[in-house]
Amino acid sequence: MKIDIGPGAATLVVEGDIGILSVNHPPVNALSQVTRQGLLNGMRAAHAEPAIKAIVLICEGRTFLAGADITEFGKPPQPPSLYEAQDVIEMGPKPVIAAIHGTSLGGGFEVALCCHYRVAVPSAKCGLPEVHLGLLPGAGGTQRLPRIVGASKALEMVTAGNHVRADECLTMGLVDAIVPEGSLRAGAIAFAQQVLDEGRPLRKVRDADEKLLAARAQPSLFADFRQANARRFRGFLAPEYNIRCIEAAVHSASFDAGKAVERSLFLELVVGEQSKAQRYAFFAERQAGKIPDIDADTPSVKVARVGIIGAGTMGGGIAMNFANVGIPVTLVETAQSALDKGLAVVRRNYEGSAKRGRISLPQVEQRMALLSGSTEMQALADCDLVIEAVFENMALKKDIFGQLDRICKPGAVLATNTSALNVNEIASAAVSRPEAVVGMHFFSPANVMKLLEVVRGELTAKTAVATAMQIGRKIGKVAALSGVCPGFIGNRILAARSRQAQAMVLEGAMPWDIDRVLYDFGMPMGPFAMSDLAGLDIGWSRESSTGATIRERLCEQDRRGQKTGAGYYDYDAARNATPSDVTRGIIAALMAEQGKRARPIDDREILERCTYAMVNEAAKILDEGIALRASDIDVVWVNGYGWPVYRGGPMWYADSVGLGVIVRRLQALAPQLGPDFSLSPLLLRLAAEGGSFTG
Ligand code: 3HC
Ligand code: NAI
Repeated sequence: MKIDIGPGAATLVVEGDIGILSVNHPPVNALSQVTRQGLLNGMRAAHAEPAIKAIVLICEGRTFLAGADITEFGKPPQPPSLYEAQDVIEMGPKPVIAAIHGTSLGGGFEVALCCHYRVAVPSAKCGLPEVHLGLLPGAGGTQRLPRIVGASKALEMVTAGNHVRADECLTMGLVDAIVPEGSLRAGAIAFAQQVLDEGRPLRKVRDADEKLLAARAQPSLFADFRQANARRFRGFLAPEYNIRCIEAAVHSASFDAGKAVERSLFLELVVGEQSKAQRYAFFAERQAGKIPDIDADTPSVKVARVGIIGAGTMGGGIAMNFANVGIPVTLVETAQSALDKGLAVVRRNYEGSAKRGRISLPQVEQRMALLSGSTEMQALADCDLVIEAVFENMALKKDIFGQLDRICKPGAVLATNTSALNVNEIASAAVSRPEAVVGMHFFSPANVMKLLEVVRGELTAKTAVATAMQIGRKIGKVAALSGVCPGFIGNRILAARSRQAQAMVLEGAMPWDIDRVLYDFGMPMGPFAMSDLAGLDIGWSRESSTGATIRERLCEQDRRGQKTGAGYYDYDAARNATPSDVTRGIIAALMAEQGKRARPIDDREILERCTYAMVNEAAKILDEGIALRASDIDVVWVNGYGWPVYRGGPMWYADSVGLGVIVRRLQALAPQLGPDFSLSPLLLRLAAEGGSFTG
């Protein structure tokens, strides 16, 4: 029997004693106004219907409620509020059972936590990921979670924002039962009937205080947690606010008092700059996957086997991505010894993950079993996608693509992991099928870094682009499209920053001053620490060294970065960096030779020259159509280079500073920026119009 509940994205039917309230608000059943209205009306109707003794709350489509509707933040609130719907569920006279599939996240999980019982299918995941949006769970989540899992676990969960598997939820008491996959509705109805038959109570999480009392007995719990995670939370506001909420749950006199703290801290965060930037980044990431002339109907290649050429730093890491999702990989190297070395590194990485509890030992073996090696290119003949990751050398890459053209099966996608070379020229070597060639630029370490720049050459077929974008998503990367130019989006902007950083060192700033300013801005490290990590000798050889730059002179002294114990910095055995007198000496000598006198350079100039030069280069990239949209540039820098997500990305940051301010400052700095520096016409125009990149 169907019951009319009035407006809202939900329907109510009665089966025996059970009312089934189904929410249907595609694509992810976000708690938009219509969803809240449906929940509220549906619950009220179920309470009013005498035939209904217990209620199952379930969702249609791919997932349970995936959280508040993020697009509604910052707009005037539309009734009913989520609290109203939650109160009706929790305080109502009939047991409510949440039936969870897909992801129950944020406000969606907070609704589930108001239900008296929760069941889930094995593939379901639950979590409070608000911290990733610069927020905290603002619908009672910080107060209910520690009442179930204890304060320590709650601290971990709200600050990491992870999606937790159903079996773990069961162990922690976050769900009460797992029902068979595909039988959620029937399983939840059976569970509800059992609750009725056994006369189980209307269990309210808000009343469970036992775990909080246990936490009160640990006076240093919160201080210890803050201290242990200070580095991870650096620069972010939301983790600290989440911690304060859990603290409030533990120390407040009542549930409602704790909830009031949660409410007020949520309201502070939601209007703040960090959350705005992080919400922008959330949508920017999703936008990046959309390419105007490529849609769901564009054919793509089904990737059943991947070939990778080169088992070095990048090749090995790239291979792991595919093995992680069950796709077999054929690795090709020049010699068996190189192959063995590459596979040994991969094994060590997996064993490290197993030691940290991220994967099991049988999983290490399963993944290793998916990797096979060969010293013959012919072994790539049956691969659907081949990724070349050999030395950064055009002649070598062209030779390889010539061979791939002859060896690979028709329809295979041929990708290069080049970090800066011309993909069109590489494609020209695949004489019979340059359209099969695409750039797939992974970032180091390739098994960890989220970004994948997909580089579309002049002739690249839509199929090749679609395949690269789709497989990127499948292996858990954030894929962004770039056109062809030296360094593509990411490294071209990096080069603009490096030019300024290098120039400032020859004007009087020390490498460690520049690194410190960028670190304090929120970057994981500055350009000189990054160079030391990557190795200063990339592209350098003793024979061709001219000694014209600091880097070359460092290399000439065998200071090639962390791996040699010295680079711009000196390193101790534990790789801790200290400023180096040798580097100081090299800088002073080079300045003397060039007739330069050191001047004081303050932190403001360091920051502005680095970041504004990046913005200027990014504007050129946008203007030239290398990037499809400003937000793609931000996606690249946040996910590939560690630009602090609470500052959105270089384009978002530029808008927050004001384009006029940036242009005036760059004009004032013109004598320092060097003769090669020119202002982007797009930046100039937008600044003059009072426009923005991301608005
Ligand atoms: N609000 C509004 N739109 C949302 C949304 C949300 N919470 N979650 C997803 N969407 C949109 C996406 O923007 C995308 O739109 P598009 O098709 O126009 O680009 C569409 O839904 C599908 O999303 P995905 O491409 O991400 O789909 P997936 O299947 O890959 O992932 C998901 C699904 C895991 C639910 C993922 O979308 C996600 O993580 N969503 C955000 C979850 C979240 O952070 N929830 C907490 C919100 S804050 C909150 O609840 C505050 C509360 O405490 C008061
Ligand atoms: P690497 O030197 O660690 O590995 C290259 C591997 O290719 C070596 O093991 C070498 O034996 C192998 N190789 C060379 N010629 C070969 C051939 N003809 N057939 C089969 N194997 C061959 O280099 P790395 O760092 O892995 O770089 C590879 C590519 O990835 C380069 O194009 C580089 O620009 C790019 N890249 C590198 C990044 C980094 O941070 N290291 C980041 C992103 C891209």
